[in-house]
Amino acid sequence: MKLLKISHLGIADKTLAEAMERLERIFGIQAEHTEEVADQKVRTAFYPIGQSTLEYLESTDPEGPIGKFLEKRGPGIHHIAFEVDDVDAAVKELLAKGVRMIDKEPRKGAHGNRIAFIHPAETGGVLIEVCQPTHH
Ligand code: CO
Repeated sequence: MKLLKISHLGIADKTLAEAMERLERIFGIQAEHTEEVADQKVRTAFYPIGQSTLEYLESTDPEGPIGKFLEKRGPGIHHIAFEVDDVDAAVKELLAKGVRMIDKEPRKGAHGNRIAFIHPAETGGVLIEVCQPTHH
């Protein structure tokens, strides 16, 4: 698999409103795109920074993945996403290497990305997403 760049950092926060207010106040930046991902029980806000992006995540359900993360760890970095040229091939390669995957097949993420998460037990407690944008 070819890792092209750090696509984004996923950052969990209590509310997007707070996160967005803070980013505007401190850095003078505004979200380029916001989107709810119903099956992940999150609302997201994207902030491009140079070649990479911050993906802010607000939970819409305490039982969802971000709800549980916030409960356990509080606000902070949730995942790192590597952009790959072919996410289907990347997932197949990881499975062939015996790497435990949260997603055994790529699924639809926010912002038109196709994504798959590696189980954090495989990666030193860092949740890593591989993702392939479907548009730029
Ligand atoms: Co992500």
